[in-house]
Amino acid sequence: MKQEHRGAFTSNFGVMMAVAGSAVGLGNVWRFPYMAGMNGGAAFLLLYLAMILMVGLPLILAEFSIGRASRRGAVGAFKVLAPGKRWYLIGYIAILAGFTIMGFYSVIAGWTIRFLSEAINNSFAGQSMSEITGSFNNFVDSGYKPMLLSIGFIAMCGAIVLSGVEKGIERYNKILMPVLIVILVFLCLNSLTLDGFGAGMEFLFKPDFSKITTQTVLDALGQVFFTLSIGMGVMITYSSYVTKKENMVRSKVIITLIDTSIAILAGIAIFPAVFTFGISPTQGPELVFVTLPNVFAQMAGGYFVAILFFILLTIAAITSAVSIIEMMVAFFIEEYRMTRRRAVITICSMIIGMSTLCALSQVSGSSIRVFGLNLFDLLDVVSSNYLLTFGGLTIALFTGWIFNKEKLFNVFTCGGRYTVWLFPVFLFIIRYISPIAVSLIFLSKLGLV
Ligand code: TRP
Repeated sequence: MKQEHRGAFTSNFGVMMAVAGSAVGLGNVWRFPYMAGMNGGAAFLLLYLAMILMVGLPLILAEFSIGRASRRGAVGAFKVLAPGKRWYLIGYIAILAGFTIMGFYSVIAGWTIRFLSEAINNSFAGQSMSEITGSFNNFVDSGYKPMLLSIGFIAMCGAIVLSGVEKGIERYNKILMPVLIVILVFLCLNSLTLDGFGAGMEFLFKPDFSKITTQTVLDALGQVFFTLSIGMGVMITYSSYVTKKENMVRSKVIITLIDTSIAILAGIAIFPAVFTFGISPTQGPELVFVTLPNVFAQMAGGYFVAILFFILLTIAAITSAVSIIEMMVAFFIEEYRMTRRRAVITICSMIIGMSTLCALSQVSGSSIRVFGLNLFDLLDVVSSNYLLTFGGLTIALFTGWIFNKEKLFNVFTCGGRYTVWLFPVFLFIIRYISPIAVSLIFLSKLGLV
């Protein structure tokens, strides 16, 4: 196999930022609050945290081990590690998941860009809640506006992937991520001044266990996969670019902590406002977009904070989308021997097709519906709750039972150098706990247990 197309990160810090850039995205700021809102808040948060430990963190480590040991992308990795077996089919599910996720992800990223331009035009100031919501609904309902913005977003991401992993991704993430955290903390402090602060905090942190249904558990699991970018080989691909040996476990624990903290900060920034402005927490995907403009409108210096916030969210979305596209590009380059350029163009054109359908499916009365849901909602739920989780289940089984144990030990501990004591714990979790947890959730959803 030719190696010259493969990128390589130049520093450990750069890798860490690229992986964090993949994990931190719309999943934390847009998807987490909307999922938590629909599933009763604190009960969802609790399940989510439990599943980060039982499934999320172990799977990031598993994917990293697979990529490190094979130095190939999502399909090639399994061909190298289990030659002659069909495990590489996992990689094809990953590619399918990639297209599905990008289809709606780029639409939401388009919404973010629209809010950025509204923020720059100062359109939130002096508007009532119903005006802000009304103009947003008109925008979504127009169909072509979200469609064009999502195409613009995909083109931007394509351009970055074209310029290569090291240059495109490493550089920006280092600066932007810390700034995003600062802004979120600022928004959380602002939440303290809102009337709905108490109600919002109670919603987010005081669990009502009667709210837990099998759907809540499945949604929490899907959210864990989505937010950590696992279950579809993105982490396999990224870890195959790591040239220097790093303490893998430590950096992945840090990334998981950062990602989880950002989601919780987003929750603290949003739920007090939801209760202050009388918005329903069960809104669905629009939640963040109808809530935050009201916060900015009433806040001192809200004009600048809004602009900065939407710039950062757009960039967070770009670094995540780039990781998905990169995973697919690596696949086309390795399996079909395409040039990077050709792979990027092919993939981005296909994603544009998907995202156009998604954007148009949100126009009211649209006939782009499957099983009674509009395509957008369907892809969002199906990809996280089923494709990623199924991919994750098979990756866990592969790592626990098929992956040569000595090799796994070597990549996990960096040749016996780091976190040796953790290896048996990891092996136990990835063999038993993660697959059983995911299977049980599937079975209970099907009504079988
Ligand atoms: N984790 C990203 C977010 O939270 C989205 C994302 C990037 C992703 N790469 C992924 C989701 C791979 C699933 C799989 O916004």
